[in-house]
Amino acid sequence: MKIDILTIFPDMFTGPLTESLIGKARDKKILDIAIHDIRSFATDKHHSVDDKPFGGGPGMVMKVEPLYRALSSVGAMRKKNRPYVVYLSPQGRQLGHALATEIASRKHVVLVCGHYEGIDERAERWFDEEVSIGDYVLTGGELPAMVLIDVIARFIPGVVKERASVEQDSFYNGLLDYPHYTRPAVFKGMKVPPVLLSGNHAQMDVWRTEQSHERTRRRRPDLLKGIQQKKKRTKRRIK
Ligand SMILES: C[S@@+](CC[C@H](N)C(=O)[O-])C[C@H]1O[C@@H](n2cnc3c(N)ncnc32)[C@H](O)[C@@H]1O
Repeated sequence: MKIDILTIFPDMFTGPLTESLIGKARDKKILDIAIHDIRSFATDKHHSVDDKPFGGGPGMVMKVEPLYRALSSVGAMRKKNRPYVVYLSPQGRQLGHALATEIASRKHVVLVCGHYEGIDERAERWFDEEVSIGDYVLTGGELPAMVLIDVIARFIPGVVKERASVEQDSFYNGLLDYPHYTRPAVFKGMKVPPVLLSGNHAQMDVWRTEQSHERTRRRRPDLLKGIQQKKKRTKRRIK
């Protein structure tokens, strides 16, 4: 998968995109990530990327021309084989498992990071999707872009070594993950559930499934409702 990031703070990505699983996936060429400085597409003397808002009011607005040129440079203005352009915005569709898998299925994605009061509204026509990471406002789109990359990378074959580990995680099957334990078997009198030490894999599977359902019922009953509604819809379709 290819990801182009358009930002005015390229250095913010050092670390999250060079370490851990994402760094390894880039080394192995499973993920091809390029970071582009929008400022380098500004043509005026000061390389300005923002200006005062028309109509007055607080703050600055990101200018449309440097962004247009940055988007053109990564092929977003082509008619054919256009990349999928995502603007990280608090006003977008909220990021969740389903949206992440949708974006992860794309071959080429462009992530646009806003700043200040946001981007000049005329840029909206070039975005295929606006994605929010939650109902709160951050100073810029860089952290949301990093979150999105981290989430989608886990769905790309080869990024996480064991596929089963991704598939058992929370949300994959609509449920929360079961609890995990590791050595020692007893710590300060706290014991690991005996079934996990029994060596009986069938019993462990049953226990884990029960735990998963129980946790979801207690912590996120809304997820169970979602599963039931989905089942009803499928039944109706089959009839
Ligand atoms: C200070 S915010 C602008 C907020 C905008 N004036 C509004 O109220 O909708 C600057 C930039 O941060 C990014 N951003 C802030 N919060 C975000 C969120 N929850 N999800 C995704 N991007 C966000 C966007 O790229 C946005 O253009």
